Amino acid sequence: MPGPMGPLARAIGLLAVFALVVSACGGEYPQSSIDPHSDFAETIHGLYWIVFVWSMVILAVVWALLAYVLIRFRDRPGAERPKQTHGNLRLEIAWTLGPALIVVAIAVPTIRAVFETQPSDPEGAMVVEVIGHQFWWEFRYPEAGVVTANELRLPVGRPVSLRLSSADVIHSFWVPMLGGKRDANPLVRKPEGEPPDYNWLHFTVREPGEYMGQCAEFCGPSHSLMGTRVVAESPEEFDAWLESWQSSAPTEDPPDAASLPEGLDPILVQQGREIFHSQTCVACHAIQGTNAQGQVAPNLTLMGQRTKIAAGWLDNSVEDLERWIRAPRDVKPGALMPGVGEAGGNWPATGLTDEQVRAVAQYLSSLR
Ligand code: CUA
Repeated sequence: MPGPMGPLARAIGLLAVFALVVSACGGEYPQSSIDPHSDFAETIHGLYWIVFVWSMVILAVVWALLAYVLIRFRDRPGAERPKQTHGNLRLEIAWTLGPALIVVAIAVPTIRAVFETQPSDPEGAMVVEVIGHQFWWEFRYPEAGVVTANELRLPVGRPVSLRLSSADVIHSFWVPMLGGKRDANPLVRKPEGEPPDYNWLHFTVREPGEYMGQCAEFCGPSHSLMGTRVVAESPEEFDAWLESWQSSAPTEDPPDAASLPEGLDPILVQQGREIFHSQTCVACHAIQGTNAQGQVAPNLTLMGQRTKIAAGWLDNSVEDLERWIRAPRDVKPGALMPGVGEAGGNWPATGLTDEQVRAVAQYLSSLR
C-alpha cells in the first residue's frame, strides 16, 4: 500500500514546477505591477508578497490534508466503514482561530501601508497637478509655471506630490511601477475659502527610466487609449528641462536648416508656424512664448521632444502627426480636436490641405 507521503511529495514537486513556470513570466513588461521603482510601489509590493506567501501556506496545508484524506480513507475491497465523527471542539476552535490569525497577519501590514501611502501633505515635495481629460493627461508644475501633456517628467530621488483632478469625467492615474492607481475626480465646487478636495499621490522615484501608465477608470470610447509615460531623470536633467521650457520662445524668423532637427524642411516649418498661429489651433493649444495660449487642449511647448503623441498611441513622427492632424477621431474615437474634414469640440473642420497638414506637423516636430 503506498503511504500518503508518496503522492504528497509528488504534489509538492508539481507545485515547485508550477512556481518555476510562473516565475518565468518575469521580464520586460513596462506596466508590471510587481517591478517596483518607487517607495510607494515597494510598499504595495511588500504587501503583495505577504498576501501571496500566506495564500501559498493555506494552499499547501489544504492540498496536503486533501491528499492525506483521499488516500488514507479511500474505499478498498472489504474495508470497513471508517469511524463516523460528529463535532470536534478542538478542530472547530483550530479552524476558526487559524483563519482569524491569518486575517490579522494580512490586515496589520495592509492598514500600515494605507497610512504610509496617504500622508496628508508631505513636506518639501514637488507638487505636480495631474488633470485627466477625455482622453489625455495634463501635467502642471505650479512652482515652475510649466505645463505639459501626456509625458510626465520627474526628478529621481526627490519626493513628488501629484494633485489629481479631472476636467470632465472620472479618470484614474496609474503607473504600476511607481505605485497604486488613484482616481482623478472632477472637483466639487466648495464654499469660498475652502480648499478643493484633491486626491493625492505621493512617491519618490528610485531609478531613472521610463515608466508606462494607463488610465484605470472607464472614461469613454477612448479610455483604453489614454496612456501616459513618466520620464524619470536626474534632478539636474529635470531642472534643465524646466529651464528650457521656461525660456522656450520659437522665433518668428524663418528657421535655417542647420538649426532644425534632421528631416525637417525650413520652408515647411515656417509655413506650418504661420498656419498654426493664424488658425483656430491657438484657441485650444498653447505654445510657450507665442500667441497660442489656449488652455483646453494639450500644451505643445517642446512638443518635438516627446516620444509619443495622442496620449501614447502614436509615435511622435511627422507621419503620425499628420495622421493625427488629419483625422484625430480615426486614431482616438471621441477626441475633441477638429480634423481636416470633420468638426470637433465646437470648432468647424480645419479644411487644411495635405500640404498644410504636413507643414503644421513639421512645425510641431521642430519644437524642441
Ligand atoms: Cu481616462 Cu479612462
